[in-house]
Amino acid sequence: MVTRYLFGSPVETEAVITPVETSQGFPPALNVLQQKEGLLSFSCKLEEEDIVYGLGEAPGGINKRGHLYESFNSDDPCHTEEKKSLYGSHNLIVIDGSRHLGMFVDCGASVTFDIGYTDPEVLTISPSVGDFVLYTIEGSSSEDILHQFRKIIGRSYMAPRWAFGFQQSRWSYATAEEVRSVVSDYREHHIPLDAVYLDIDYMEDYKDFTVSEERFPEFDEFVREMRQEGIRLVPIIDAGVKIEDGYDIFEEGKKNGYFCKRQDGTDFVAGVWPGRTHFPDFLNKDARRWFGEKYKCLLDCGIEGFWNDMNEPAMFFTEEGIKKVKSYLADFDFSDQSANHYFELTNQASGLANRREDYAAFYHHIHGKFVRHDLVHNLYGYNMTRAAGEAFEKLYPDKRLLLFSRSSYIGMHRYGGIWTGDNQSWWSHLVLNLKMMPSLNMCGFLYCGADLGGFGSHCTRDLLLRWLALGIFTPLMRNHSAYGTRRQECTCFGDSKAFEGIISLRYRLIPYLYSEYMKACLEDRLMFRPLAFQYPEDKIARHIEDQLLVGESIMIAPIVEQNAVGRTVYLPEDMKLLLFRDAQVVREKILSKGWHYFEAALDEVPVFLRKNKLLPLCEPAETTDALDFGNLELMSFNDREITYLLYDDDGLSKNYRMPGNQRLLTVKEPD
Ligand code: NOJ
Repeated sequence: MVTRYLFGSPVETEAVITPVETSQGFPPALNVLQQKEGLLSFSCKLEEEDIVYGLGEAPGGINKRGHLYESFNSDDPCHTEEKKSLYGSHNLIVIDGSRHLGMFVDCGASVTFDIGYTDPEVLTISPSVGDFVLYTIEGSSSEDILHQFRKIIGRSYMAPRWAFGFQQSRWSYATAEEVRSVVSDYREHHIPLDAVYLDIDYMEDYKDFTVSEERFPEFDEFVREMRQEGIRLVPIIDAGVKIEDGYDIFEEGKKNGYFCKRQDGTDFVAGVWPGRTHFPDFLNKDARRWFGEKYKCLLDCGIEGFWNDMNEPAMFFTEEGIKKVKSYLADFDFSDQSANHYFELTNQASGLANRREDYAAFYHHIHGKFVRHDLVHNLYGYNMTRAAGEAFEKLYPDKRLLLFSRSSYIGMHRYGGIWTGDNQSWWSHLVLNLKMMPSLNMCGFLYCGADLGGFGSHCTRDLLLRWLALGIFTPLMRNHSAYGTRRQECTCFGDSKAFEGIISLRYRLIPYLYSEYMKACLEDRLMFRPLAFQYPEDKIARHIEDQLLVGESIMIAPIVEQNAVGRTVYLPEDMKLLLFRDAQVVREKILSKGWHYFEAALDEVPVFLRKNKLLPLCEPAETTDALDFGNLELMSFNDREITYLLYDDDGLSKNYRMPGNQRLLTVKEPD
C-alpha cells in the first residue's frame, strides 16, 4: 500500500505519475523530528537484521546501512568510498527485515539519508527544505514494495535492441578518420561492435547541435557509411549553450527567455567546455520543448542515439566565483606561513567548480513561479533528458531511440537510461559497478551501465578483461575513457583473442539479456536482483553483495580482484557452473548448494545456471543486426520439463506487446 504525505507546497516533479491518495498528518511508522528553522526529519529504529536497499546511483554497498548519503546531483569525478553524492538523486529506500517499509522522498532539493551512520540503530531522513512529498510503501517483501513503487512512477524507458550491442567510446574521436580507424580495427580483429560514440570534439567549438565541417565533413554521408559497416554513431549533447552572437541556439534561447536567470532577470553565465555558457531552463516546459526539437538536426542525419552530459549542471567556474578568489588573493597575507593558510589558498582555487553558492544564484520559470535553482537542483538533468524524450516521442512516435544521461532523478527513468559517470580504472570501481546495478533497477533505471575499463586513470589489460566479463551482462555495455589516458579500445592491449571471446559471448547472450530486460520493463520488475530477493530464508545469501541474479535463470559471480585466478562463490541452491571461453562452454559442473571455489582465467567467464531454468543462446555475430533469434541453443540443468518466455520483437518499434513478440521455449524432461 502506498501513502502520500504532503509537506508545504513543493514543485511538482512528476516523478510519480499515478495518483496516490494523500494522508493527513505524519506517517505512523516514522518519528518526526523538528529540526532548526522548522525543517522536518523522519527517523525510525533499525533492527539488527535490517538491510536498507535503494538510493540508485550512490556509492557504497547494496545494503546502504552504516553510511551517510546526500542527494545532491554532483559532478565529482573521484568516486571514493566516503563520497555522499554522485550524479543522480534517487530518493528511494526500502527497509528489509522483520518488517518491510519503502520510503520515497520526492524533493528536488538536497536530502540527507543518515542510514545508521550517526547512530547504528537509527535511520534519519532530512530534506533540506520544508516543501516535499513523502511516500511510504508497505508490502510483504522488498520486491513487492519495489513493484508497487515502479507502478506509481511509470514504465521504464525501453532501449532499442541494437543498444545491447558492444559500444566503443573515447573522449574523443575527434575526426571521421579516427572513427573509421577504430571501426576497422574492431572489424579486423573480429570483435563485435554496434556503436561508436562522438564525444565533445565532433562539435564546432563545443556548440550543441553543430557538427564540425572540418573534422566531420558531410556528416550525414558519414553516418550512412558507418551504418553500412553496422555501426551507429552516438553523439554527446551538453547542457550548456555557448554564448556566441550568431549561434542560432544561443540567439533563440536568449530571445525567448529560455535560459536560467539571475535574480535580476539577466541570463545566468557559467563556464563549461565552450567557455561562457547559458543553461537552458529545462524546468520550463516551453524551453524544454524548444531544446528537445533541436535534436532533430542530428536525427535527420540518421543519428539514432544520444548521451546527455554535464547536466547536473556542471560548472567549471562562474565570474562571481573568480571574483571571490581574486579578492581573496588580493588580500592574501604572505606573512602567515601556517599550513592551514596554504590549504585555504588551494581550496579557494579548486573550489571554483560546482560551488553551492552558484547553484543558489540562478532561477527557473516553473508554471509561472520564479524558483531558485538549488531548491530544484536534482531535477535538472532529468528534465534535460525529458526534453529529448518528449521530442523523440513526437518526432518518431513508433521508433525506439537510444538515450541516456549522466545526471538523473526518478522520473527520468521513463525517458532514458543512465551511465554512471566518471569512474576510474580501479578494481574498486568494477565492484561499484556490480553493486550499483540492482540499486539502479530498484529506482526504475534498467538501461544502465558504467564506463567499462574505467573513465579516468590508465586501464590495464587484466582490469579491462575482468570488467568486460561483468559488462557483458549490463544492458549498456560501453568502453569509455578520458582524454589523456592510454587508449582503451579492446584492440590496444596486444593479443585481442580474449576480448573477441568475451564480447562474442555477450552477443550469444543477447536473446536472454534482451528478453529479461524487456520483461523487467514491461512488468515493472528488476533485471539485477540481490540474492536475498530470491532466497529470503537463506541467511548467508541475504548478505552476499558480490554475486547477483541476472534475470530468472542465471547468477553471476564476477572476479573483481587483481591477480585473482579464481574466487569463492556461495550457491543458495544447486546450480550448474558454465565456464565460457571463446564464447563456448569449456567446462561445466553441477555444484551443490553451499560454498565453492572456482577458477576462471582472464579470458574466461563464469555463469551459474539455476536448476530448472533455461538459458537461450544464439550464435555469435559481429553486430546485433546479424543475430539470429530463430536459431537458439538452449542450455539447461533440469529434472523436469521447463519453459522459458523469450521476448523477440523487431527491437526497434514500440509494438511491445504484439502477439508473436513472446515465444515459449521448452526443454523436455530428461529421459
Ligand atoms: C564528462 C563525461 O562524464 C565524460 O564521459 C565525457 O567524456 C566528458 N565529460 C567530455 O565530454
